[in-house]
Amino acid sequence: MSETMPDDVAIESVLNERREFPPPAGFSDAIGGAHISSIEQYREMYDRSIRDPDGFWGEIAGELDWFEPWSTVLQWESPDAKWFVGGTTNLCHNCVDRQVANGYGDQVAIIWEGEPVEGGSPEVRRLTYADLARETARFGNVLKSLGVRKGDIVTLYMGMVPELAIAMLACARIGAVHSVIFGGFSARAIADRVQDADSRIVVTCDGGWRRGAVVPLKDNVDAAAAMTDRVKTVVVLKRCGNEVAWTLDRDHWWHDLVGGVSDDCPCEAMDSEDMLFLLYTSGSTGKPKGILHTTGGYMVYTYLTSKYVFNLVPDRGQVYWCTADIGWVTGHSYIIYGILPNRVPTLMYEGAPNFPADDRFWDIVERHKVTQFYTAPTAIRAFMKWGNEHPRKHDLSSLKLLGTVGEPINPEAWMWYHREIGSERCPIVDTWWQTETGGQLIMPLPGVTVTVPGSCTLPFFGVDAAVVNDHGEQLPVNVGGLLVIRKPWPAMLRGIHGDRQRFIETYFARVPGMYLTGDGARRDERGYFWIMGRIDDVINVAGHRLGTMEVESALVSHPAVVEAAVVGMPHEIKGTGIAAFVTLEKGHDPGDELRKDLLKHVTTEIGAIARPDMIRFTDALPKTRSGKIMRRLLRDIAAGTDSDQDTTTLEDFSVMARLREADDG
Ligand code: WTA
Repeated sequence: MSETMPDDVAIESVLNERREFPPPAGFSDAIGGAHISSIEQYREMYDRSIRDPDGFWGEIAGELDWFEPWSTVLQWESPDAKWFVGGTTNLCHNCVDRQVANGYGDQVAIIWEGEPVEGGSPEVRRLTYADLARETARFGNVLKSLGVRKGDIVTLYMGMVPELAIAMLACARIGAVHSVIFGGFSARAIADRVQDADSRIVVTCDGGWRRGAVVPLKDNVDAAAAMTDRVKTVVVLKRCGNEVAWTLDRDHWWHDLVGGVSDDCPCEAMDSEDMLFLLYTSGSTGKPKGILHTTGGYMVYTYLTSKYVFNLVPDRGQVYWCTADIGWVTGHSYIIYGILPNRVPTLMYEGAPNFPADDRFWDIVERHKVTQFYTAPTAIRAFMKWGNEHPRKHDLSSLKLLGTVGEPINPEAWMWYHREIGSERCPIVDTWWQTETGGQLIMPLPGVTVTVPGSCTLPFFGVDAAVVNDHGEQLPVNVGGLLVIRKPWPAMLRGIHGDRQRFIETYFARVPGMYLTGDGARRDERGYFWIMGRIDDVINVAGHRLGTMEVESALVSHPAVVEAAVVGMPHEIKGTGIAAFVTLEKGHDPGDELRKDLLKHVTTEIGAIARPDMIRFTDALPKTRSGKIMRRLLRDIAAGTDSDQDTTTLEDFSVMARLREADDG
């Protein structure tokens, strides 16, 4: 190992993944024409995008509407990027009004399906671009009448209902900044975010449907409002009809406000660098950070990634479905802002994947003839566990393309997705990106890139991704290091709300002049990227550096294992040992036999250095409501220290108690 290697991320162990999947023949015809036809074309375009970003992005931006043209494509003074400088536009205009102006007002923009299934069929709503133009104008006027001005921050704490999309677009329409808070967050979390954003107005619902029960959204807002003095106005959409408390002069029903308002509300001319939204995300400290995104660059980048990565083509019967919640960045960029400008209907589903039964998603795919399907590895692993009979009950032949996002996908889950959902005919796009990046940065292009299970493959146009050490020097093939982006891209974050110092320290200090992703990665002989997980999830075992994700992938590739989480734990001799928490397929007995078998399996997959020192079988892993495994909690359990850690985002509290009680054999 070279001495310039970063201290905590060097790794040379390589998962033994050799399977390659060439672009399926017939993809282009099936999807209605591929935008990019060959890997040579990708390389040519990529080279140009790096050599001449101004030319490349200038042309792409010209595919959308601008009120005033920009004078300079990019101004970059690290860490500050300005894109399409001097240009003015409006994202609601490009999502909605532009489609109406071009004669597509009658086409379906959003297909929405509610969770409850009464009398055999769920509630479905189809909103056209004309509907969205009218509704966003009305709600824009409502916001104005409540005193919201350009630049004000509007908090949205709602379920997955069309009105959430309408509220976001209405904010964009009038130049207000939205801060969406995931409906699964607690009152405390709302209060913290409202306070940090200094947001005076909250839009919510009486309740939200989740597995047949009502999530009391309005009650949570009431409780949050009691914890901070900021909330002056609350708008409440009636969704579930549950009882809610009412504060006169502060609370207003959505339907009352919208009823009497004009639908004339022109789209505000926004400077390219005017704020579009704020989205809170977790960092390495306990305090969530408000990631700041602006208008022009975000618009152009999410439009183009949506177009190429999902191969969106209007007028070809495509129906695109991203299963994320809009409370996360994936929902912002790839349910709403990137998809609508491409004029392909975007499907929004309100509820849980297993309500009323484990086949709900496949039922939706079949009924709506979904063509592109985008979900998370954690969901895929759940589907695997629930059993093949659920997808097999349904006709999934409409599917043409599959995507994943959010965490490394272990090869076994990739193979299952490929086989059981894609019938081996749908390319899989494993997209790597972050809240901070605004859009997808590393991924295969469908029908173009040879895919390898577990690798997110190659960078998107304009993305100068590299694996480097602390001095910013590029590392050799298959040597793990820091994943950085060396040049600005249009959708990059512009800051952390109210914390310039944290912005600089988190992203631009460790390797000066480059954006630090916080992920470890390696690049293989093909130039493909392999994400090794967060830098803080990389552990040093007896002087060997290991990616916890790699050990997890190895475990999950064992037929008995559904899901695994690996963390470091104090170890007398090795310094850090490896603790593994494992959930099992139905019908496998936890016990010493299996434990031994797993140790052997990991040794075969990676090497003896990756053998876990402790394996604990469990029926569930502690997860955030967005499905991420909470490794910091597992580290405490593994270390045997009592946890006083913040567990407010934990999905199921009983998991922790059961984990503490389980024995290690
Ligand atoms: C991880 C979600 C491997 C990564 C869009 C990143 C991934 C963090 C992938 C961002 C992927 C996301 N392969 N890891 N395809 N996609 N990640 O901000 O660690 O919720 O830094 O954004 O998720 O999570 P965030």
